[in-house]
Amino acid sequence: MFKALILHEHSALIEELDESRLPAGDVEIAVAYSSLNYKDGMILNGLGGLVKTYPHIPGLDLAGTVVHSQSNQFQPGDQVICTGWRVGETHWGGYAQKARLKADWLVRLPTGLTLRTAMGLGAAGLTAAISLEALEAHGLAPDKGEVLVTGAAGGVGSLSVLLLASLGYQVAASTGRPELESYLKDLGAQTIIPRQDLAEPSNKPLESARWAACIDSVGGTTLARVLAQMNYGGSVASVGLAGGAQLTTTVIPFLLRSVNILGIDSVFYPAERRAATWARLATELPLEKLEFICTEVGLADVPRLGKDILAGKVQGRVIVNPNQ
Ligand SMILES: NC(=O)c1ccc[n+]([C@@H]2O[C@H](COP(=O)([O-])OP(=O)(O)OC[C@H]3O[C@@H](n4cnc5c(N)ncnc54)[C@H](OP(=O)(O)O)[C@@H]3O)[C@@H](O)[C@H]2O)c1
Repeated sequence: MFKALILHEHSALIEELDESRLPAGDVEIAVAYSSLNYKDGMILNGLGGLVKTYPHIPGLDLAGTVVHSQSNQFQPGDQVICTGWRVGETHWGGYAQKARLKADWLVRLPTGLTLRTAMGLGAAGLTAAISLEALEAHGLAPDKGEVLVTGAAGGVGSLSVLLLASLGYQVAASTGRPELESYLKDLGAQTIIPRQDLAEPSNKPLESARWAACIDSVGGTTLARVLAQMNYGGSVASVGLAGGAQLTTTVIPFLLRSVNILGIDSVFYPAERRAATWARLATELPLEKLEFICTEVGLADVPRLGKDILAGKVQGRVIVNPNQ
């Protein structure tokens, strides 16, 4: 038997399940930690039609130890991470003491990380690293100028600020929570941009050029405003939609300033690139600061926090311990 947070159509309950109920997969994992992402909030609240079949075990991310394996890629005792592949959406996820997954979805825990720090990072950390990789592939370097991070006090935002600052980038953090200014500055942000500065539509197709790059978790009007403020040749990594999915803009920033908008997806990010990206996080992120970003909770706290994350009230990253 194992304990899990089971999502029914109109409730979320902690229940004990027999392991025979676990979905098909070739590797069984004793889950040490999971985490809370914005999309977990959507799933916990039945939004977006992401879960098709109930009862369901949510939890997009998990890290744990292999207990049984029918794959020659993994042996019992191996420590592994899973993020993406629609785990927690179409396949039972990490808000449980046990999970059964496909070996192809797993990444070995890189040297330097623990199962707990891996979940401090989770899909948010991977997404920050993929965003930086995409921006660098489009010419970003620390001497190119200021990099803006929107939704900066959230999970992807906090980790993006920390990663960029630790690599020597000059970071501006946009937040709607002025009370978190010192938190963001401790992560390495040099400038704080109030959320409302980017929240209202502008009728100008181009504004004063300011940003060499941006990692944008917010979307909507914020993304439209950021596009109009990019330096010549600058790139925006479009990561999220915490402020809205609609994008109303003009083509002028693309035509007159050669601005790039780069789509970022961590869910189906190629398996063969994941180990290197996780290793980069393990070596380039100041892990001692990760603790400062993270809060640890048990399964019973998850439904409440699932509402909070949709309301933009969660700071940094939430690690979920299903064994608490
Ligand atoms: N593309 C991918 O592969 C990928 C992977 C992970 C996440 N995402 C997406 O990225 C976004 C962030 O995810 P997350 O897990 O980091 O969520 P999160 O922790 O909730 O962070 C989102 C942040 O956005 C800001 N925000 C919230 N509501 C807003 C609003 N109405 N208007 C403007 N800003 C608002 C808040 O930051 P402040 O308080 O600092 O303003 C909030 O902390 C989500 O849309 C998520 O779905 C995408």
